[in-house]
Amino acid sequence: MKRQMWIDTDTASDDAVALIIALRHPDIEVRGISVVAGNVPLEMGVQNALYTAELCASTVPIYVGAAQPLVRTLDTAQFVHGVDGMGDIGLPLFGRVPTPGDAIDEIISAAHRHAHELELVTLGPLTNIALALRKDPTIASLIKRCVVMGAVADHIGNVTQVAEFNMWVDPESVDIVLQSGMKLEFVGWDISRTEAVITPKEADAIRALGTDRAQFAVDIQRVLERFCAEETHLAGFDLPDPIAIAYAINEKVATETQEWFLAVETQSHLTRGMVVMDTLGVMHEAANARVVTKASHEVFMTMLMEALGS
Ligand code: RIB
Ligand code: CA
Repeated sequence: MKRQMWIDTDTASDDAVALIIALRHPDIEVRGISVVAGNVPLEMGVQNALYTAELCASTVPIYVGAAQPLVRTLDTAQFVHGVDGMGDIGLPLFGRVPTPGDAIDEIISAAHRHAHELELVTLGPLTNIALALRKDPTIASLIKRCVVMGAVADHIGNVTQVAEFNMWVDPESVDIVLQSGMKLEFVGWDISRTEAVITPKEADAIRALGTDRAQFAVDIQRVLERFCAEETHLAGFDLPDPIAIAYAINEKVATETQEWFLAVETQSHLTRGMVVMDTLGVMHEAANARVVTKASHEVFMTMLMEALGS
């Protein structure tokens, strides 16, 4: 029996590679993809997800979710991934039709249909998940695990000094998820910038795989590559969502994890979206999340090359 997975995504250039990893993995059945506004406006994220699924010859249902955070106005990351989110390389990212149905209701239905088996992976802001939990809190105990690409265990942010983008966009939704009782596992941007940076040499090796998906996976990082060079000063482009989904599929991607109490800042402007991790236990609260604190670039790269080369 294949493992049952649901992916929630704000589909831009790194999300797309994460979708390929899951859609191409022999052990994974992706039961649905729900799209949320984040990197790009919602409709753009929907088109990007549909294009990527088509590239994988997948018929996975793709549902339209929330167009705005719970209470904040949407701030996209088009300065990071491009206006279309996919490197602005002229891909035909229009005209595809999502699956009829409300993403929030479909997440809830899938949690009940695949009770205690569904592995939820979130690659964007948590708006859809928070709305689903509000509508049906029982899904927190029905979802087997929720792997979140988000936060930073070293508290070095990528959208502000202390906050990671997915958490910063909609901190109120993070607060709902953190208090839901769901089995949460976080793969932060600290893991991406240390173990998921693709160097130019590795990008060439990916292209050398010779498949359409491999070419696509590198080409769409064009804007991200420039952002990493000029802003985050990494030795290539980093792939946060792909290493998060690789961990969700194969826990050996993580070489160290911790069980900590996490809480998110929703009041302060300065520290909005900071996910505080109680590493010393000084808050005397029970741990509510597993956090990946070290990972293997080698294990991740093996999974990435397999997904893009197959
Ligand atoms: O901080 C990285 C996260 O923000 C990734 O999910 C990326 O796609 C953006 O959504
Ligand atoms: Ca994302």
